[in-house]
Amino acid sequence: MSGARSDKRLEPACLPWRVSCRRRARPKPKSVRGMLTHPANVGVLAMTNRYVVVTGASRGLGRTIALALARSGFSVLAGVRRREDGEAVRRAASGWLEPLILDVTSGESLRAAAADAERVTAGRGLAGLVNNAGVVLFGPLEQVPLEAVENLFRVNVFGVIAVTQQFLPLLRQAAGRIINISAVNGKISIPFLSEYNASKSALEALSDSLRVELAPWGIRVSVVAPGAMRTDIRAEGVRHWAESRASLSPQKHALYERQFGKLRELMAQVDSTAAEHDPVTQAVYDALTAEVPQTRYLAGPDAAQWMQMASLPDAQRDAAFLSMLG
Ligand SMILES: NC(=O)c1ccc[n+]([C@@H]2O[C@H](COP(=O)([O-])OP(=O)(O)OC[C@H]3O[C@@H](n4cnc5c(N)ncnc54)[C@H](OP(=O)(O)O)[C@@H]3O)[C@@H](O)[C@H]2O)c1
Repeated sequence: MSGARSDKRLEPACLPWRVSCRRRARPKPKSVRGMLTHPANVGVLAMTNRYVVVTGASRGLGRTIALALARSGFSVLAGVRRREDGEAVRRAASGWLEPLILDVTSGESLRAAAADAERVTAGRGLAGLVNNAGVVLFGPLEQVPLEAVENLFRVNVFGVIAVTQQFLPLLRQAAGRIINISAVNGKISIPFLSEYNASKSALEALSDSLRVELAPWGIRVSVVAPGAMRTDIRAEGVRHWAESRASLSPQKHALYERQFGKLRELMAQVDSTAAEHDPVTQAVYDALTAEVPQTRYLAGPDAAQWMQMASLPDAQRDAAFLSMLG
């Protein structure tokens, strides 16, 4: 965890996403609008050769990461599923940012996105890939719908593998870096999040082996593991759980009634103290620019506490969770 050195040549005078430390925004030439659909213009937009792809940039952490990197001088290809989301994030950007239509669960979409990125980068390669897109699933393992579990793994695990496979040729051209957005759940299994825990644990396992596999090309792989951040992800997870409970028989419904109520309360509490996104954007920035990036970044005020809990003997950790769930 310790010992990462920032590359002073690349680090801006102040981290650009810090509210207290604003830099002058880079002017965005009007001519870059719609470039991805006009490959003839690609040569014009080589403002820098530090191209980065961020998946799941329509909202939440991915949007913040994409905007922060664009503000700091990276040329950002912001992965979104819908054109209107792409337009919105492009309008919000104060640096070079272009939407890249990309659904991590669709091979066809990924092939098209990689071809677009290849045209835009025009032989310069990618300096980074931030695998951020992710979904959550709450509920007792006994009752979560299998289709929802399959979708979770398609996005959080197979999606990361598929995106990485598609963009590796471009990353290799520039000895770019891969940053996988995990969660504290990659190291600690929180009850009623079994499938999410398992998906992040898988993501961390594959990041560790990938780091060694890609070392010959100087491609670094880092994991960023945030604690609770202020986004809609938990509210959506709880809403889905409530929806899926609605179709259960009264007997099954009753089985986890008390825990469901308790978890809702806990989530409301977590949401009220969830952090702003600075620690995550800082970790991603460091992973992209430090001469020796960390293999793993914990991000957020509660992350270290979760790691302490992860290191408890199993029986003690179980007891702590049981008392939390009342
Ligand atoms: N928020 C937290 O407290 C927290 C903590 C630890 C880790 N994380 C991790 O951080 C990452 C971002 O989370 P968040 O809180 O920012 O979530 P969020 O606000 O719900 O945003 C999720 C993003 O993923 C995108 N996405 C979902 N399915 C996709 C697919 N099939 N293809 C492409 N994009 C897809 C969404 O796009 P659409 O808008 O098109 O749905 C959206 O941009 C996730 O990997 C999450 O596990 C979050």
